[in-house]
Amino acid sequence: MENAKEYITTKEGPKEEVNNQMHRLIEAEWEKHEDPKLLEVGFGSGEMLDRYPRGSSWGIDWNKEMVEHAQNAKRNVFREDICNPTFVFMQKYEHFFDFIVANYVFSEMKTEDLEKAFKNCHTLLKDTGKLYFSLTNPRMRHRTDLPGYKIIFSQTYEYEKKDLSFKVLLWDGKKYADVGILDYHNPVETYIDIIEKKFTLEHLYEISGSVGFAHALVFQVEKLE
Ligand SMILES: C[S@@+](CC[C@H](N)C(=O)[O-])C[C@H]1O[C@@H](n2cnc3c(N)ncnc32)[C@H](O)[C@@H]1O
Repeated sequence: MENAKEYITTKEGPKEEVNNQMHRLIEAEWEKHEDPKLLEVGFGSGEMLDRYPRGSSWGIDWNKEMVEHAQNAKRNVFREDICNPTFVFMQKYEHFFDFIVANYVFSEMKTEDLEKAFKNCHTLLKDTGKLYFSLTNPRMRHRTDLPGYKIIFSQTYEYEKKDLSFKVLLWDGKKYADVGILDYHNPVETYIDIIEKKFTLEHLYEISGSVGFAHALVFQVEKLE
């Protein structure tokens, strides 16, 4: 989305379900910490970040417009690439966070970048830290009836394919618009394999509800020391 021309907010039934589920999971853990600290990676419009106290929450996004917009709202945000963050950022926030959340961010990365992103999340988390992230469900990629979205694959779709790129078109009220979103399909097992190099997968939640099939996955993973 770095090159997205526009950021269209669609009718967000399914996305709210994911945000709500993730928030419930974090809330249940939040109280266990004396001074909890949360980082949202790829915060986008900042809806999720707004759920947490400003003094306890940080955000990074590599998109200039997202960061400027969030800075105007006086959030604690930085323009950083989670795959290649600056040395200064990593030094300052190494082992700093109890929670990292990333909603629909890792689907913008190929496996090579996923490896880097998870490694950096591992460094940013405290030893007892947890990472929560969501993806549109790769097992449901053949279902193209998610309201407001249309998928165009770069090659023939097969579930087992890795790093299969596809465009996501968004319904703007009149037509499906190409706003520059390029995502990558990987099988769920690929994400799990990469995660398990540095983390333990505690839970994998399937989110369904409003659309009648499991449209998204929420991963809850704990840092391995
Ligand atoms: C699909 S949007 C999701 C935004 C928000 N999390 C939400 O759920 O509404 C993905 C976001 O991740 C950011 N992003 C993608 N790759 C990134 C990277 N390597 N480092 C930091 N941010 C990244 C994009 O700029 C974009 O804001």
